[in-house]
Amino acid sequence: MRGMMLAGGAGTRLFPLSRVSSKQLQPVYDKPMIYYPLATLMSAAIREIHLISTPHDLPVFQEVLGDGHQWGIDLSYGVQPEPGGIAQAVVIGEDFIQGDSFVLVLGDNIFHGPIGLEEEVAKFQSGAVIWGYPVDDPQRYGVIEIDESGSVLSIQEKPDIPLSDLAVPGLYLYDGSAVLRAKNLEPSARGELEITDLNLSFLNDGQLRAVELERDITWLDSGTHESLLDSSNFIATIEKRQGHKVACLEEVAFKMGFVSADDVARTIGAMPHSPYRSYCERAILG
Ligand code: G1P
Repeated sequence: MRGMMLAGGAGTRLFPLSRVSSKQLQPVYDKPMIYYPLATLMSAAIREIHLISTPHDLPVFQEVLGDGHQWGIDLSYGVQPEPGGIAQAVVIGEDFIQGDSFVLVLGDNIFHGPIGLEEEVAKFQSGAVIWGYPVDDPQRYGVIEIDESGSVLSIQEKPDIPLSDLAVPGLYLYDGSAVLRAKNLEPSARGELEITDLNLSFLNDGQLRAVELERDITWLDSGTHESLLDSSNFIATIEKRQGHKVACLEEVAFKMGFVSADDVARTIGAMPHSPYRSYCERAILG
């Protein structure tokens, strides 16, 4: 299974922070935002990962994340020249996807708790899987209606009058047909290839399944000043209470068996002295 991360967009809602760095590199408490969705993929045993960003921001992602060898993963990069929508990233990723199934995660989505992605990936055969999460403000998101068996009855992008409170998080599991489907989409009124239209294409063919995330899972997006602060506060609260970091990529890589104790000791040894390094030494090397 391959993984794709989309870290594009102008991030205009975060102006003037967006002048300093791209949205997905802003701090969420003690790490760059992109660490969290990357940890989500790695925790599902996904090691071949392609990150798509703007021509302006891509070099910074390459600088920050490198080729992934320090975490035992293979990171490659692709460019989205203009903000053409999330589904356009699927088209851009065609050479990386090579007809295989893949998980797409949005670079500003943070998940905490056992979301069951590894299990979904392990049993996935074809079609598409999306998730639904109850929120107070579904009109800000893609919204699904599902029946008791998990069959999707409808999916709408940012509806004025939502038919349910189930928002669709930025996490999608697709078979290789997603590329051709995305190529055949028409741009929406805002001129973008919408991920909801890609999901509709699977739904219309009876190929879309939805999994409802339990309320004890946390899903946050961090695209506004308020949600960025909420995310930072949430991560800080959990980390201070438990004494464990969320999305410490060195720890995830070690726990997943992607790197050996010697590998991780070398990576930690090259870090500047910092609370993050001290945590890695304590939590991983013991
Ligand atoms: C995008 C998708 C939307 C999804 C959301 C999750 O919205 O279009 O369906 O619910 O991501 O974060 P955007 O963040 O681009 O407004």
